[in-house]
Amino acid sequence: MTENDQRKPRVLSGMRPTGKLHLGHLVGALDNWVRLQEKYDCFFFIADWHALTTDYADTSRVKPNILEMMYDWLAAGLDAEKSTIFIQSHVPQHAELHLLLSMITPLGWLERVPTYKEQRDNIKDKDLGMYGFLGYPVLQAADIIIYRGNYVPVGEDQVPHIELTREITRRFNGFYGDVFPEPQPLLTPMPKLPGTDGRKMSKSYGNAILLSEPEADIRQKLKTMVTDPARVRRTDPGNPQVCPVFSLHKIYSSAEKIAEVEQGCTTAGIGCIQCKSWVADNLITQIRPLQERRAKYEANPRLVWDMLEAGSESARKVAEQTMIDVRDAMHLGEDYEPPTKSAKAE
Ligand code: TRP
Ligand code: SF4
Repeated sequence: MTENDQRKPRVLSGMRPTGKLHLGHLVGALDNWVRLQEKYDCFFFIADWHALTTDYADTSRVKPNILEMMYDWLAAGLDAEKSTIFIQSHVPQHAELHLLLSMITPLGWLERVPTYKEQRDNIKDKDLGMYGFLGYPVLQAADIIIYRGNYVPVGEDQVPHIELTREITRRFNGFYGDVFPEPQPLLTPMPKLPGTDGRKMSKSYGNAILLSEPEADIRQKLKTMVTDPARVRRTDPGNPQVCPVFSLHKIYSSAEKIAEVEQGCTTAGIGCIQCKSWVADNLITQIRPLQERRAKYEANPRLVWDMLEAGSESARKVAEQTMIDVRDAMHLGEDYEPPTKSAKAE
């Protein structure tokens, strides 16, 4: 990190450690993060405390998942020389700020967050009626403003969380003085990336293709991928616009190949097996360099863990500096002077 970086606007984002990442994480976030590294002072962190809001009962996967995710981050091109990459729980200042923000966050704001009720009702195998789960967005607000982040690259679904962060920030500044800038979401332009069943790619749907998926498995998954349901026989013409395989072509294939698929599909000139093998070739060509990089890091977990430790140490310095200002602003700081005996006596 050079002097100059300090003057660049600051970008901050995090991901919960869900283990190995899939193609959706790459096109929806990581590719963008990698580009942002060039222009901004970036902080990227692994939100392991956030993982506990749903996985509190069995925490044994958290640490292995942190490493698995970090391999994929590095494979995708995140670079600890350019960005500060760290683990949330290794910067305990997040928890202190979360506590202080929790004092000024009205319950109604939290109950109104769309993901809150939705997830609490939809996730049936876990009891999410927990204090920590309700407070998830307060912790997220602390994550962001403790670095005085200017921009937060996120998907559409996270925008309500950033809006809430802005509201909490305004309330804090209103009570205690201007300590934090209001962060802004940086919407990630996201091409449509369906999973093998045609729904949005997601680990929980079991329709994902992992970044680290072996070549043979990728080909097998694509073979069974759903296509235009109207194209029953090889001789039926198809409609690429409704076919999830075509959505993958639009991401991974050249303009010429895309045109060839459109022409071939609508005239029944090509079969789906052919079409899928083309997209498999292109996808594999694109992620092979990532997989080669991943293999190198995977062979050296100590090195990767040390990178995270070093990043966490840098993050702690920045976070502690902010907390000094926060404690002062709230009259909790070390500059607090107790009434002296002599003052009392007078
Ligand atoms: N809530 C985010 C998600 O599920 C993860 C996250 C936690 C985050 N803290 C953050 C994202 C701060 C951006 C900034 O994807
Ligand atoms: Fe989909 Fe390709 Fe089959 Fe057309 S040819 S239906 S685009 S898989």
